[in-house]
Amino acid sequence: MENQKELAKVPHHIAIIMDGNGRWAESRKQPRFYGHKVGVDAAEKVIRACTRIGVKTLTLFAFSSENWRRPSQEVDVLMGLFKTVLASKINQFQKQGICFRAIGDRSKFSKPLQEEINRAEILTANNQKINLIIAANYGGRWDITQAAKKIAISVKTNLISPDIITPEFFSKYLTTEQFPEPDLFIRTGGEKRISNFLLWQLAYTEFYFTDTLWPDFNESDLVLAIDNFSKRERRFGQTSKQMESEPTCLSKE
Ligand code: IPE
Ligand code: IPE
Ligand code: MG
Repeated sequence: MENQKELAKVPHHIAIIMDGNGRWAESRKQPRFYGHKVGVDAAEKVIRACTRIGVKTLTLFAFSSENWRRPSQEVDVLMGLFKTVLASKINQFQKQGICFRAIGDRSKFSKPLQEEINRAEILTANNQKINLIIAANYGGRWDITQAAKKIAISVKTNLISPDIITPEFFSKYLTTEQFPEPDLFIRTGGEKRISNFLLWQLAYTEFYFTDTLWPDFNESDLVLAIDNFSKRERRFGQTSKQMESEPTCLSKE
């Protein structure tokens, strides 16, 4: 059945760089803040669409470790927005069966924001419909170095031997440890770069770039991206012929 075939190709995990909020607002002669605000609405729509389509994990890049370099006013607005959105949407997340998780160095956030994040994670921990991972003050290099640091301490204190450090072992120390690696990466806003997002985890992810600015991104854009993804052949180093007879997959199911 065509539907089943389509469903079989739905990515388990989609990771999105939600880019273009500022340009979207500026093109309307509005302050950048307005773009971020409408960007939150776009994120909400995409979360709902992913839940409907059957995506099991959605990671959204909300604030990079480099975004602190922006004017302090914009940083303050983004922090404020994060806290307000969390506080106001948490019950809705709960109703929708969303399991919320934040990845990134949260120690740099204000205490009230940290508390809001902790509260949301605890409240939604047992929800099963979809994992919503918000990458906030996240950097791929930071993720890899914090993992390396933990492993180094375990080696130093003789808890583990360096011999057991394999890529699989290493990945258990990353902040995304309990989630499968992304199948599909989407970046809106026209730029074709990773901007220090999930560097390790994107090793075998399919990339999809669109010029659509994030506040304009909607369910049909998402379906277009998934459709494009579903037509690709992921070979994980093997040949096409091998994939037909004995397909294997690198990412955790
Ligand atoms: C993405 O939109 C949101 C964040 C980085 C927080 P931008 O704010 O980067 O928008 P552009 O790229 O300047 O248009
Ligand atoms: C990446 O977008 C970070 C987020 C969307 C949160 P940026 O707008 O910060 O990326 P660069 O600076 O254009 O690479
Ligand atoms: Mg940008």
